[in-house]
Amino acid sequence: MRYFVFNTPEGVAEAASMVFASTLYQKPDAVFGLATGSTPVDTYRRLIALNARGLINFGRARSFNLDEYAGLAPDHPCSYRRFMDDHLFDHINIDKALTFVPSGIGDLEQNAAEYDQIIERAGGIDLQLLGIGHNGHIGFNEPDERAFAYRASVVGLTDSTIEANARFFANRDEVPRRAITLGLGGILCARRVLLLATGAGKARAVAGAIRGPVTPMNPASILQLHGDVQCLLDREAAALL
Ligand code: F6R
Repeated sequence: MRYFVFNTPEGVAEAASMVFASTLYQKPDAVFGLATGSTPVDTYRRLIALNARGLINFGRARSFNLDEYAGLAPDHPCSYRRFMDDHLFDHINIDKALTFVPSGIGDLEQNAAEYDQIIERAGGIDLQLLGIGHNGHIGFNEPDERAFAYRASVVGLTDSTIEANARFFANRDEVPRRAITLGLGGILCARRVLLLATGAGKARAVAGAIRGPVTPMNPASILQLHGDVQCLLDREAAALL
């Protein structure tokens, strides 16, 4: 896995936005895999600015988000659909009908099974953006002692993830305990992967993912098996490499 270390989180976001821009120049109808959480927000802000200046065009792009909380309707203020609308889609010229976020309501097992198929029918993901959890999760694929979760599925969230994400909710009790997520197989099928990590809290997970053994206890370590992964890190996240 290749990694690049920047002095600041802003450097990470700037570089990530350049990768998006170059992808769009090479392939105007690119399919993006997108993430929520705090890490990509600054990247999205820069993409909005580039789009507003007419430097990049999302008019033919499509996107698939990694995950959604179980039980949250798309218009719920804490849903990931709402997050994406607020932080990116409502501010760029993407066709919202071509932006997909897994549905957290209805028959979740079926939603998960269909999600892999919809991505496949779209021709797969050209550029998959990832954050990383403190425990090494990517998407909501949490550490597991036995196996990597290959397919899109409905998963339980670990206490540490519930704790980390409580900041987006009124209190910890409101954080859904389950989510629907693209599986690690779906992530590995992306043609190119861009993992962003900032802050000291991510240093252990990042070191494990890049240098450690490939183990389901650090789900991001499976990216070592992918041939085209770039990790953009700030100094703090890279501290243990
Ligand atoms: C979000 C996602 C998660 C986050 C991870 C890091 O869609 O799939 O894996 O990328 O939890 O979150 P932040 O960036 O908030 O530290």
